[in-house]
Order: sequence, then C-alpha cells, then structure tokens
Amino acid sequence: MASITLNHLVKKYGDGFPAVNDISIDIADGEFIILVGPSGCGKSTLLRMIVGLEDITDGDLLIDGNRVNDKAPRDRNLAMVFQNYALYPHLTVYENIAFPLRLAKGKHSEEEVDRLVTGAASTLELTDHLQRKPANLSGGQRQRVAMGRAIVRQADAFLFDEPLSNLDAKLRGQMRAEISQMQRRLGVTSVYVTHDQTEAMTLGDRVAVLKKGELQQIASPRELYEQPRNLFVAGFIGSPSMNFLPATVEGNVLRTALGDLAIPAEKAAKAAGKKVVLVGVRPEFFEDAKLVEDSKRGHGSTFHAVLSHTEWLGNEQYGYINFDPAPEVRELLNNLAKEMDADELRPQIVVTLDAASRIRGGREAEIWLDTRKLHLFDPETGDNLTRDEAAGAALTEEANQERAEEIANAQGDGDSTASGFSSRNTDGGSPAGASAGSSSRGGATAAGGKHAGG
Ligand SMILES: Nc1ncnc2c1ncn2[C@@H]1O[C@H](COP(=O)(O)OP(=O)(O)OP(=O)(O)O)[C@@H](O)[C@H]1O
Ligand SMILES: [Mg+2]
Repeated sequence: MASITLNHLVKKYGDGFPAVNDISIDIADGEFIILVGPSGCGKSTLLRMIVGLEDITDGDLLIDGNRVNDKAPRDRNLAMVFQNYALYPHLTVYENIAFPLRLAKGKHSEEEVDRLVTGAASTLELTDHLQRKPANLSGGQRQRVAMGRAIVRQADAFLFDEPLSNLDAKLRGQMRAEISQMQRRLGVTSVYVTHDQTEAMTLGDRVAVLKKGELQQIASPRELYEQPRNLFVAGFIGSPSMNFLPATVEGNVLRTALGDLAIPAEKAAKAAGKKVVLVGVRPEFFEDAKLVEDSKRGHGSTFHAVLSHTEWLGNEQYGYINFDPAPEVRELLNNLAKEMDADELRPQIVVTLDAASRIRGGREAEIWLDTRKLHLFDPETGDNLTRDEAAGAALTEEANQERAEEIANAQGDGDSTASGFSSRNTDGGSPAGASAGSSSRGGATAAGGKHAGG
C-alpha cells in the first residue's frame, strides 16, 4: 500500500490544450479518493497520468515519496480496473484472476498462484465460480473477477475509471457497496473516477471535484455538501441540486423573486458591499410553514408562493415554484448555467416538503426556509461568501478518523477473508506482500492524523 502525491500536475495534449491544469492532491495510504466532474474535465487523463499511461507535461508524481514521472507503468506497481472488464473469454475465472501472475513468468510457484487466487476469490465471494467462464457470469461477478486480478498483483494502489457505468442501477448500487467494503478490508489506497455525484458521495473518503482541468475543491463528502467553496461545487454535489436565487442585499434582508427574506446578521455581514448575490438553498431546508415546530420557526423566514405542482414520493414530497426573473437576472442565470455546464438553469425552486403536507400545485401556500442553512455566492467570481472554513475542515477531519476506524474494523474482523490475506503476508512469499500487510493497519491510522485540518 502506498501514499500518492500529485504535485502541480499539468497535462497538455498535442494541441497545447491543458486537459489537466496544475492539480495538487495528497492521497494518504489507505485512502479512497474520488475524482468527479462533468465529461471532459480531465478525470481519466489524471488517472492515466498516475498509472503511467499518459506522459506528465509538468509537475511531479510521487508514490510513497519517490518521484515516478519517468517510470514505466509496470514499475509503478499500481493496478488499473477498467470499465470494460477486459476479461479473457476463453479462460476460466481462476485463470483470469491468475493471469497477471502467469504473465510474470516463473516468478510465482504453482502453490503461490493457487494461494493468491483462492485468497482473492474468497474475499470476492467467487470461490464457487472459479471454474466458470466470464460469459456465464453476471456483470457484478465479472467486475469482481477484474478486481481479483488487481488483488493478486498485490498492487500498491487500485485505480478505477468509471467501473460501474455499464451496469444497471440496481447492480450499480450493489457493486458500490461491494467495492467500498472491499477497499476497507484490503485497506488499499484507491483512486476512483466517476461523473456520478451519488457514487462520489457514497464511496469517497475525500472527493476531488474537477472542472475544465482544474481542481475546484477536495474534501470529505459532507464538507463538499455543507461547505462548498464555490457555485460549481455547490451545484454539482447534491440531488436534487441546490437552488440558486438572485437577490439584492439590504441590511439583513434579501430581496428575492420569492419575497423578502430576513437572514442572520452574521450571514448578511459576509455579503457587505455586494449589490447582488446568489442565494443557495438546498431543497431540504424548505418546509411547509404549517408543519414547522415553534422552536424551529424562529430560525427561518417564511414567504408565500404558488407551487406549480408537487410530487409525492412516499417519505417526502417535492414542490416546484417557478419565479419570473427580471431580464438582468435571467442573464445571470444563463451565465451561471454555462459555468455549471448545464443547458439552462430554469428560474425554478425545488423544495422538499414533509410527506404529510397538504400543499398542492395551483394554490397559494406558506413556505418556511431555514435561513441558517443558506449560502450566499458572489455572482461574479462564484465564491461562496458564507463558507465556514473551520466547520468544513472539522467535517473532513472527522471523515479521516472514521476511515482509520473502518479499516481497522474491517481488517480486524477475524473472518475467513481477512485471515486469508494475513496468511499470505506471514509466510514470507514476496517481500512486497509482507510489508504491505504489516503496514496497512498502522498506516491508515497515521494517515488519519497526517491529514488533520486538510
Ligand atoms: N489523446 C488526446 N488528445 C487530445 N486531447 C485529448 C486526448 N484525450 C483527452 N483529450 C482532451 O482532454 C480533456 C479531458 O479528457 P478526459 O478524457 O480526461 O475527460 P474525462 O473527465 O475523463 O471525461 P469523460 O467523463 O467524458 O470520460 C478533454 O477535453 C479531451 O477532449
Ligand atoms: Mg473519462
């Protein structure tokens, strides 16, 4: 297992276009990092630079502190798990998993191959399928065979490029859970590319949000969600998306198309000197005013609106409010849409209502909004004016500690799979395997401390 450091990495393709533009990330040993962003933002390019399939134009790439820019892919000891599993149809599952070991001719004895393959198969719950051919497996099982290959190589890190994108939604959910548990059990450093924010949020210890080759923010999922650094991150993370509502600021009052909203003085102070701001509110911070407890009501502001329609989802409802923006506000929304890589930003607010709410489309309703939770963005720069740096850092620090605990728990389970792996490390097979096994637990804990405040 290893730490990976990206130091001001730049990738320019032949036409001089910077597909990756000055990206720096410290990936701790045992950490699960997600690279997320819209199509063309440079995720795959960055991953391929790490694994060595793409030259580095500028900057340094370090694995465990050693510069590897000029090392060939096979000398970096990283395992790439591709989107199209690249399995050999004529080989059994066993031989597919054994393939990287066979490739290193004569390096592994037959007993060693067998031990590694059956160990990996047991971790991946493929033991019953070892003699089958890939064509007879489900998508999820094939995915696991591909991971088995990475496992037997005893690579220092796993790199995934959209591994689940051709699975159906249900299987994707299952595989997500499997990959996550596997990563914890092995405690292996992982970098995972996806354009799906749900995948990013559920898998990552930290998520790096990219836009047009540039790093927007890297933080734990909760920090991204609660303390986004800018409009792009705020709009990209979360589903349904954060609502953006243009407003003029007058003292502690925001004048918006929905009406006047009184906001806490400390928030208003952050927007001092700005004429126009974009108010960002997540749907769940709205509620049917009738259903808000008295103790909570004072923390927010209410307004009247006619909802165009509502959608009942069983546990909650979504309500939609259209607003009619002034021409200059429409212009602002259009520019914002371009910035976010969206076709258009509709002048519409989505609110989450309690399942019991009787609010329906077409009738005027009173809606409450928790003004403690709203963010104010500078429409010119996109900066979040109300971001609480310290609160954000605390969320990411918490996530780092949780990771260390989860890895320790997953590896200390004492179940057959965990012991399968520790046995491989104690019988002195390969020095790489032995050191990986003994360092992984301590490494994870140390990493938790190393990233304090990060
Ligand atoms: N071989 C190449 N030559 C020139 N430009 C390239 C090459 N490969 C990628 N690019 C450009 O670099 C940018 C980043 O591409 P990359 O494949 O890394 O994006 P991505 O984030 O993985 O997107 P997607 O989600 O669509 O896979 C794009 O603008 C792309 O056109
Ligand atoms: Mg890609």
